[in-house]
Amino acid sequence: MTRPLLEVAGISKTFHSRLGEVEVLKDIDLHVDEGEFVSVIGPSGSGKSTLFSILAEQLGPSAGEIRFHGDRDRRAPFSAYMPQKDLLMPWLTVEDNAGLGLVLAGRKRSEARRRVGELLPTFRLEGRSKAYPFELSGGMRQRVALLRTVVQDRPLLLLDEPFGALDYLTRTELQFWLAELCVEEGLSVLLITHDVPEALFLSDRIYVLSNRPATVRMVLDQPAARPRTLEYFETDQFTHDERRLLAELTESGVRPATGSSAA
Ligand SMILES: Nc1ncnc2c1ncn2[C@@H]1O[C@H](COP(=O)(O)OP(=O)(O)OP(=O)(O)O)[C@@H](O)[C@H]1O
Ligand SMILES: [Mg+2]
Repeated sequence: MTRPLLEVAGISKTFHSRLGEVEVLKDIDLHVDEGEFVSVIGPSGSGKSTLFSILAEQLGPSAGEIRFHGDRDRRAPFSAYMPQKDLLMPWLTVEDNAGLGLVLAGRKRSEARRRVGELLPTFRLEGRSKAYPFELSGGMRQRVALLRTVVQDRPLLLLDEPFGALDYLTRTELQFWLAELCVEEGLSVLLITHDVPEALFLSDRIYVLSNRPATVRMVLDQPAARPRTLEYFETDQFTHDERRLLAELTESGVRPATGSSAA
């Protein structure tokens, strides 16, 4: 049997801060198989971004293990991380912002620009390579940040609320676009989101976290084939699972906004 691409086994994290000990993650288990799209959903402050910092090897866990293809001592980075905040550099053009991860990893700027240039059409950024972030819409900026993550060609993408700050229509458009991109390119993704329909629409599997210290409260499989289409939102599976997730999250400490948004 092939090992999962990523296995998170018993990860716990406690911060020792000025204000005392803060237990953030408690015995988290999850996995991502090759080509899967997996989401993590949970209350604000529960520890989702902390989990990603550990996966991106920016932070060490207090306990537990992270295995990549069964290997816990892998040296080369296995993931590319898109942080929660849009971190485009205002003084860099689209091509240089998108190539930043490659340059930081030691590639020549000319090579980074070439690789980014090849992917600009896929990210609907043709003709924008010389634009600066202030000249772009919010949706375009998020596509540049996503491009910067994808172009690094790492086996796993870690996306921390990539659409959180966008308006409803732009977010919806990008969700449909990302759904197709992931299938076309065979990407393996771990996504953090607060958006229940987004998690359902995009994912093969969803992990629901509790309030801090975060534990896994529920694991929900989504068997419908990907990429999904608008019709998915009319299926019994969607309606049923949306209700289940909202119920679980409400018990986890989340107060959903009035009604639930569509994707
Ligand atoms: N370096 C740190 N030192 C001490 N406490 C920290 C540190 N980093 C994060 N925390 C605390 O850990 C908890 C989890 O933070 P984290 O950013 O992981 O939450 P989150 O689930 O991503 O929240 P959100 O959904 O709002 O983005 C918070 O209570 C936060 O204050
Ligand atoms: Mg966060």
